[in-house]
Amino acid sequence: MNKTTTTLIGPFSQILPMTDLPKAGALKDEQLQVLERAGVLVQGEKIVRVGSYEQLHREAMEQQYELQFIQEPMVLLPGLVDAHTHICFGGSRANDYALRVAGKSYLDIARSGGGILDSVRKTREATLVELVTLLKQRCDRHLHEGVTTCEVKSGYGLTVEEELKMLEAIKLVNRHHRLDLIPTCLAAHMLPPEHSDGSLYLQEMLKELLPQLQEQGLATRVDIFVEETAFKEAEALEYLLAAKALGFDVTVHADQFSTSGSKVAAEAGAVSADHLEASGDEEIALLKQAGVVATVLPGASLGLGMHFAPARKMLDGGLCLAIATDWNPGSAPMGDLLLQAAILGAAEKLSTAETLAAVTTRAAAALNLTDRGCLAKGKLADMIAFPTNNYKEILYLQGKLKPAKIWKRGQHV
Ligand code: NIG
Ligand code: FE
Repeated sequence: MNKTTTTLIGPFSQILPMTDLPKAGALKDEQLQVLERAGVLVQGEKIVRVGSYEQLHREAMEQQYELQFIQEPMVLLPGLVDAHTHICFGGSRANDYALRVAGKSYLDIARSGGGILDSVRKTREATLVELVTLLKQRCDRHLHEGVTTCEVKSGYGLTVEEELKMLEAIKLVNRHHRLDLIPTCLAAHMLPPEHSDGSLYLQEMLKELLPQLQEQGLATRVDIFVEETAFKEAEALEYLLAAKALGFDVTVHADQFSTSGSKVAAEAGAVSADHLEASGDEEIALLKQAGVVATVLPGASLGLGMHFAPARKMLDGGLCLAIATDWNPGSAPMGDLLLQAAILGAAEKLSTAETLAAVTTRAAAALNLTDRGCLAKGKLADMIAFPTNNYKEILYLQGKLKPAKIWKRGQHV
């Protein structure tokens, strides 16, 4: 499809445009707009209109638009947005899994020099070309499972040079892959073995790394892991405020094991606070007041065998809830967004509207993206079609019903 070609795609049994929904808070399924026997007009990489197939077909005949005819029953949704991943890494952490099921905790493994630092060693050993190859394979899988936008963090380099290598790999894959990658600098993932002072390390990253990211167009987002084994609240706040002053959007790995980090996210005016398994009423209220998106990561709970973040409470407390995979080699190696969202939805009693919004329009909000996440005029034509005539089948089948057709920026994948 070139820039000026207009194409009518359809008919779809149902289209869920995910537009006109409240930006935050609980959602009832009745609030979902479900268009029956509908079509979508696409011009270049954008959507022109979504509506009744019969009407659009008449217009298409008059105007001689191209037609992409959908023969089987299909339900169309916006492409999924995975707002939190660490899929640029070398090696495996299968040994961590064995240690954890034998009774060691994630934090114990980290304290003994394994965990994240093990992936740091393996990622430093990998060449740029090796990282590009591994990242590309993971992007292929994600795109075929319906993810059309994916955030990717650095954070296994932990020196200026190695963080640049990771972000360069992300930039290279983004340039050549259909999937849109949103890079985030997570140089503040952990204190690397070469350093003993968190504050000094963060100062170095602020002075030596962040300006280079801007000069080379490598990232516009900065993240930090606030936890006993990573960075303290006070040093995190200082770092994030300085990053923000440089013009970065900021986000926080918060409240994963203890209630630390959501306060920093609120005070720093972060776009999102992610994890939040340990958050309670107080943390939810802080995030709500500051307008921070809550991105929960059921894949990390599944990987570590721990409870989920209190997603129901968060929605009832008025938060904008996004669900992401946290796909990483340690706590969340699975990386299946739809499956994880369906499982969290069942466990936390989320409505279909809440779960679908959390992986589309509200996940886009978690990345501060306004050009995607719903199907409306002017938005990117990132669309996925499931082989069913009833949208309720999608989460009911717990992620085993995969999209049969995918369009990225108007192009059929
Ligand atoms: O989001 N919690 C910190 N960071 C990652 C895990 C990364 C790893 O274990 O390699 C997370 O779960
Ligand atoms: Fe993470």
